[in-house]
Amino acid sequence: MTHKMEVRFPLITERLLIRPVEMTDADALFKYRSDRKSNKYQGWIPETLQDAKDFINTAISNKIDIPDTWFQLVIIIRSGSIMIGDIGIHFLNSDNCQVEIGYTLDKNYQHKGYATEGLNVIIDFLFNILNKHRITASIDPRNKSSISLVKRMGFRKEAHFRESSLIRNEWTDDLVYAILKKDWKKII
Ligand SMILES: CC(C)(COP(=O)(O)OP(=O)(O)OC[C@H]1O[C@@H](n2cnc3c(N)ncnc32)[C@H](O)[C@@H]1OP(=O)(O)O)[C@@H](O)C(=O)NCCC(=O)NCCS
Repeated sequence: MTHKMEVRFPLITERLLIRPVEMTDADALFKYRSDRKSNKYQGWIPETLQDAKDFINTAISNKIDIPDTWFQLVIIIRSGSIMIGDIGIHFLNSDNCQVEIGYTLDKNYQHKGYATEGLNVIIDFLFNILNKHRITASIDPRNKSSISLVKRMGFRKEAHFRESSLIRNEWTDDLVYAILKKDWKKII
């Protein structure tokens, strides 16, 4: 079945609101994304606020569900309207039925279940609104929190590429985790 339902944002969960990134998010995004320690396994770390603005500028020019582009969402705590992280969706060009996801939380809001709650609604959206077939995540094997997160969502490990990514002059291994629509069960 290729029928897709209408895409409507924001997505709302018990504690969170998830919507496309906006330029006014630049300060908050720069603050947590520039934290080198918390983001040590991430390929992109902004050096300056302008880097964050450039990132957002590219992101807001992308429409959702276009092959070979990323669509960038932000995670907001509903009570207090605090922006605590972001989720990126990479629409792959193979058949327009597969996506890769990336996610980052401000370290002050980790270990509270927010990433689990946010990914739960995003994965459900990707499978049941955009009718995607398969979702993948690419993870540094040392990134235990990220591995726990995708395992909690029901992803399985499908590949371990040795020294396949050059990140800040270090050849790093890359794990690929994936989940199929037919295996997806909402966890919250
Ligand atoms: C990857 C990342 C988003 C995971 O964040 P996280 O805080 O571990 O994930 P959650 O928000 O879902 O929180 C889950 C943890 O909170 C605990 N928790 C506390 N309250 C909870 C609640 N109400 N509901 C669910 N879990 C709760 C869970 O037990 C779990 O702990 P555990 O991992 O020790 O088992 C975070 O580590 C991050 O942003 N890292 C930096 C960026 C990064 O590396 N991104 C991934 C690139 S591949």
